[in-house]
Amino acid sequence: MPVPFNLADALDAALKSAATAAGLEAGAFVPEVRTADSRHGDFQANGVLGYAKARKLNPRALAEKLVAALPPELTAAYEVVIAGPGFINFTLKPATLLAWLRTHDSADHLKASAATARRGQTWVVDYSSPNTAKQMHVGHLRSAVIGEAICRLLEFSGTRVVRDNHIGDWGTQFGKLIWAYQRHLDPAALAADPLEEFERLYQVGNTAAEADPAVLEQARQELVKLQAGDPANLAIWKKINDVSLGAFQQIYDQLGIRFDVTLGESFYHDQVARVYRELTATALAAESQGALVVFHPEHPRFRTQPFIMRKADGASNYATTDLATALYRLEHFHADGIVVVTDFRQADHFEQLFLTVRKWFAAQAYRLPELHHVTFGAVTGEDGKALRTRDGGTIKLKELLAEAEARAFALVSERSADLPPEERRAIAAVVGVASVQYADLAQNRSSDYVFAWDKMISLEGNTAAYLLYAGARIHSIFRKLGATPGDAASEAAASALETPAEFALARKLVKFADAIRLATDTLRPHFLGLYLYELAGDYSAFYAADKVAVEDPAVRARRLLLCARTLLVLETGLRLLGLRTLTRM
Ligand code: ARG
Repeated sequence: MPVPFNLADALDAALKSAATAAGLEAGAFVPEVRTADSRHGDFQANGVLGYAKARKLNPRALAEKLVAALPPELTAAYEVVIAGPGFINFTLKPATLLAWLRTHDSADHLKASAATARRGQTWVVDYSSPNTAKQMHVGHLRSAVIGEAICRLLEFSGTRVVRDNHIGDWGTQFGKLIWAYQRHLDPAALAADPLEEFERLYQVGNTAAEADPAVLEQARQELVKLQAGDPANLAIWKKINDVSLGAFQQIYDQLGIRFDVTLGESFYHDQVARVYRELTATALAAESQGALVVFHPEHPRFRTQPFIMRKADGASNYATTDLATALYRLEHFHADGIVVVTDFRQADHFEQLFLTVRKWFAAQAYRLPELHHVTFGAVTGEDGKALRTRDGGTIKLKELLAEAEARAFALVSERSADLPPEERRAIAAVVGVASVQYADLAQNRSSDYVFAWDKMISLEGNTAAYLLYAGARIHSIFRKLGATPGDAASEAAASALETPAEFALARKLVKFADAIRLATDTLRPHFLGLYLYELAGDYSAFYAADKVAVEDPAVRARRLLLCARTLLVLETGLRLLGLRTLTRM
């Protein structure tokens, strides 16, 4: 029996055709297919109620009419039951489940089941995007980790993704930095650790400017010279950025991130004239106390709180570059969607930006991409306060990842003392980084994120170590039996599912596409994390209840088939979240 790749889509299509056959108003019936609570089946269609209510029909009678008109392939694949006032419940028949398991035998097949309406579109994802001249600290973790997972989810559902690191490389910090660089540079420190030296120089410049208005003015002049293209200042600026990007890349390598483009704020600085021109010509922007601003009269706050796009001294700012950036993403990348990942404190900026872009693009008759600001909460310590080092400094990301690895090494050494130390170190490198990534991805990104080492690097609970261990354990079953996951001949010999634990696991596996779709549509990776955690739990229950290495070859083949599919789904899911996986742990 052929099994369609996306079950929910197939149900939706079948119900729509049944609606036509049963004489419902053309195009008016929306099936509303949802994942059902497993006690009631695998899927549920809720659309009958709304349709019947709007037309004063009896919903149960309507549901019966629809069910009678369902195509025969569908009733062959599902038990169909009408429940309550007119819900239609669908439960996959055992043979359908087995057929699904046989067909979904590769990441590509899983991918086909996850395709969404965004397939074929181009989306620009702007994430990580730190400011240069400073090291990345713990606050920079979330944008990088969440952004990368979103990129991978979008790609998996068929979207072309442009990963764009929109670095802050044109800010006012450069005035003070160049001022100090010219006067207080320590060449030996620069050679030893350039980023540390830039941070020190910035502090020197900042302190001096605070103490003395003349220094502040000199720093401002350095910035003006830089922005006017002075070669000496440009050379210092370029050096600072190159060094910063080199240091960022070391972190990105650990996190498995590769940007397609790094177009920072400086890239747009000669594109702002067009922004001023078009927004003024369309009367969206107006002069206010010397500045060029946009008000949004329909908005409760932005009616009076202006979006400043040119300061009174004539300088451009964050808003100007972001407006130019939106236009560039439309014209250069032909973006159908734009996602920007930053913490919630920039919510007002992006709300004003998107309101402005919508009006501006409409006035110019430009195509409007979908615009999403993906926000996240703060990273706090267990005391609920901002996470800091013991002496109150910010925690550098580099040091945080090194500590994660060291803690993971202790965990692995405790569990698997028999493995040679270099293998334990290699495993710890994966587990350490994965634990930090996953702790961030496992919870709703809108919440503050409490950073707690003991919860994060643990084999208990919804953690990376737990999920990686579940995968490694399946690999070891195959190793012990001398079998290979996904072996076609063995899978063809599998018999029909029988035990409750086998059914529960298979019914969870078929829900992978729904979890992906939910995570992708909402741009919230934790929905996938939650699914993987539940899957690992169903797998454990199956493994505890049903022996895999039984004599009966058909039973052994079907249990190995379940093991292989669990492994495929688990590893595919973990990689979509940006994690590396392990065959041994
Ligand atoms: N550099 C900014 C910061 O560190 C984030 C930039 C986000 N992207 C953007 N297009 N504004 O806060």
